Amino acid sequence: MDATFVLLPGDGIGPEIVAQARRVLELIGTRFGHHFVFHTGLIGGAAIDATGDPLPDETIRMCTEADGVLLGAVGGPKWDDPNAKTRPEAGLLRIRKELGLFANLRPIKTFPELVDASPLKREVVEGTDILFFRELTGGIYFGPSSLEELPDGGYRASSTMVYDTHEIERIFRLAAEAARRRRNKLTMVDKANVLEASRLWRRVCAELAATEFPDVEYEVVLVDAMAMHLISRPTSFDVVVTENLFGDILTDEASMLPGSLGMLPSASLGAEGPGLYEPVHGSAPDIAGKGIANPLATILAAALMLRHSCQLEEEAVAIERAVQDVLATGARTADIARGSQRVLSTVEMTDLILAALQ
Ligand code: IPM
Ligand code: MN
Repeated sequence: MDATFVLLPGDGIGPEIVAQARRVLELIGTRFGHHFVFHTGLIGGAAIDATGDPLPDETIRMCTEADGVLLGAVGGPKWDDPNAKTRPEAGLLRIRKELGLFANLRPIKTFPELVDASPLKREVVEGTDILFFRELTGGIYFGPSSLEELPDGGYRASSTMVYDTHEIERIFRLAAEAARRRRNKLTMVDKANVLEASRLWRRVCAELAATEFPDVEYEVVLVDAMAMHLISRPTSFDVVVTENLFGDILTDEASMLPGSLGMLPSASLGAEGPGLYEPVHGSAPDIAGKGIANPLATILAAALMLRHSCQLEEEAVAIERAVQDVLATGARTADIARGSQRVLSTVEMTDLILAALQ
């Protein structure tokens, strides 16, 4: 097949890891006889430096014409000034909105070889396999916000969590359909004991669960309790669906279950158009440029891109299997190495993946 991918390396370790994922995609193209075209665009701090805008129009245009978008990471201390006109993160939020990417899928799966790298006990995390559906274009991230100066010299700031029925329905349906293809269990997380927006989530989801998905085992959990259950009994969850901010926080928490953030990919999908794929980890400015970052999350994100945006299931599985096999041989980057294991560079790790794919 022919496919066009946009690479958005971004900041920090972004360029290093996206370059490695590209090598993997190129090899897949050759091995399976596909014609992949790559374009590279600006986003985040790199885009601010070059154009003053964290998401230049040119990048949006490129992305809307692509089959899939692979993003590295955005942000870093250089652009952290709270008084700055704009921030790298604004580019990320805008591209989600521009591309209509309302569903953020974050699979949290333990790799048997890495269980001991988890800060939690083996008997707690072993077998964890959760698929999060985080709503990504609504809620408090995009609701009205304000900052006003008060007569007493202080300030008042507000951010508002807003949801419409249809925004809840569309992500709930995706999550429930995914549950059917997995272990058939769906957990919806909210704060309905306090928030009006959560009460709407609870009502809308209960209705859909009963009418459209009576065969799916359905439960609701309050977000504070979920924070606790995630680290006490993670294996009891299958698919989890929740609103934007809760999903942001819970998926960072859950990312510690498998041991390293360096292993986790994510996919952001809309009703149509290209999906956006990225590692869950950030730009890691402390190790940027050193050639030691773990490229596996981005390589696994590339696999998700082949699966969800190109329907290339066999190719996606080939990459996932290569990662698994290479880990099984004891290959480790610094973030996942333990004891006397030899530490590989970003490029060396990718070389092994490429060799496993040959
Ligand atoms: C994420 C990040 C972003 C978010 C930031 C960088 C805006 O934390 O993708 O989870 O909060 O959505
Ligand atoms: Mn986050």
